[in-house]
Amino acid sequence: LSRADFPPGFVFGTASSAYQYEGAVNEGQRGPTIWDTLTSRPGRVIDFSNADVAVDHYHRYKLNKNVIYAGKLFRNDKFNTDWQEDVDLMKDIGMDAYRFSISWSRIFPNGTGEPNEEGLDYYNSLIDALLDKGIQPYVTLFHWDLPQALEDRYGGWLNSQIVDDFVNYASTCFKEFGDRVKHWITFNEPHNFAIDGYDLGIQAPGRCSILSHMFCREGKSSTEPYVVAHNILLAHAGAFHAYRQHFEKGQGGLIGISLDSKWYEPWSDVDEDAEAAARAMDFELGWFLDPLMFGHYPPSMQKLVSDRLPQFSPQDSKLVSGSLDFVGINHYTTMYVRNDRMRIRKLVMNDALTDAAIIPTAYRHGKRIGETAASKWLHIVPWGMFKLMKHIKEKYGNPPVIITENGMDDANRPFSKLEDDLQDDKRIQYHNDYMSNLLDAIRNQGCNVHGYFVWSLLDNWEWNSGYTVRFGLYYIDYNNNLTRIPKTSVEWFTQVLAQKTAVM
Ligand code: GCO
Repeated sequence: LSRADFPPGFVFGTASSAYQYEGAVNEGQRGPTIWDTLTSRPGRVIDFSNADVAVDHYHRYKLNKNVIYAGKLFRNDKFNTDWQEDVDLMKDIGMDAYRFSISWSRIFPNGTGEPNEEGLDYYNSLIDALLDKGIQPYVTLFHWDLPQALEDRYGGWLNSQIVDDFVNYASTCFKEFGDRVKHWITFNEPHNFAIDGYDLGIQAPGRCSILSHMFCREGKSSTEPYVVAHNILLAHAGAFHAYRQHFEKGQGGLIGISLDSKWYEPWSDVDEDAEAAARAMDFELGWFLDPLMFGHYPPSMQKLVSDRLPQFSPQDSKLVSGSLDFVGINHYTTMYVRNDRMRIRKLVMNDALTDAAIIPTAYRHGKRIGETAASKWLHIVPWGMFKLMKHIKEKYGNPPVIITENGMDDANRPFSKLEDDLQDDKRIQYHNDYMSNLLDAIRNQGCNVHGYFVWSLLDNWEWNSGYTVRFGLYYIDYNNNLTRIPKTSVEWFTQVLAQKTAVM
């Protein structure tokens, strides 16, 4: 596999998010976010960690003369010669782009008001460092870390007031950074955010509708995930039109959204399972992509969620429909789906997870769909990438797609040998096979795919899994000053990306 196999101009990059990478949560006048709040409650994160330090990307995206680490001020040149610049690491591999997120609460510590100069300075400096090395910034505006102030003020995403506040924040970013940023991603994985944050209650803001969930303190309305998703779609559309009207002309960039989507494969040949798999796609990808492409929710959702699903007014429908230049897809895994004949949802009261009346499973006739990575949900199924791309082409008229995340994790083993951990052959295989399927979809199906971003450059803080899993091409030595150490996959990617000229 080589870069030259892909169409000219195809972009390769790595992806990250502010809360998972930056650390420095009390620096630069950053305001607290709903993730700081969640991690301060016991029992939410498996290793009791938080991302107060994370991988210290806030300081280490480039070498600083003065570095504050663990509360102490170090002169970097004297401190540790091993410290490396993350931007240089990307450059060395041959990456074209870097996808990162802006933390809303660094720009507006209270969610609204006057922009915070220190926050603007930080992202300006990161963007400049990237461009200086020839790396294109792909900027996500919302990767889950809502300013706590907005949660407190009016209930965050549950309140439609947030639409204007998001558009204002987005417009500030367009104005401040848009002269250099040419790719904008409004939201990251709104499906996961709505389900994990408002249905399962395991992620911020930790509200849930599943009555049995032990950590559930707030919420208990199966309507909330749908309300949140609706407000996100309206906020996305608002930001899209603000960009088009006020900035696009001068700035000439593109704006899209990153949607998480598994591929759902029917468990059997019978119609009811095929229909169940289609419903599973509707309730994950279609929930957002149908409104964005067609102006309404999938008919299956309208039917099953019925009056708990908000409706688009004719005017809103027009605003949302067509409001993207590209579809970002975060794809990791595939599952089988069976029809849920029992309609379990009827028994436990309605909740968003069971509304679709499906049973996802990784097994068929006693056989697993694929090997599992360290995270139990991550079944390795490369052909799912091909089928997902084909589905998007056929159902949505072949819109431009960018794979904004794809990757796999290893366990962070407490007593492991470093050499073993650096030898990540499984990761190399994963990327080779997923990229080959992507290539197949481009070449043989004519799928309109323009880029591929690896999750992730560095091991980092994985939400509820804390530091227990490692998604990086670089190993982070958490016991030794967060040193970045290349795994074998760095070498592999460097080779894949080296060859620039297309061979016919
Ligand atoms: C996202 C993802 C990432 C995860 C990655 C591995 O929201 O984009 O959740 O933040 O770290 O998907 O699980």
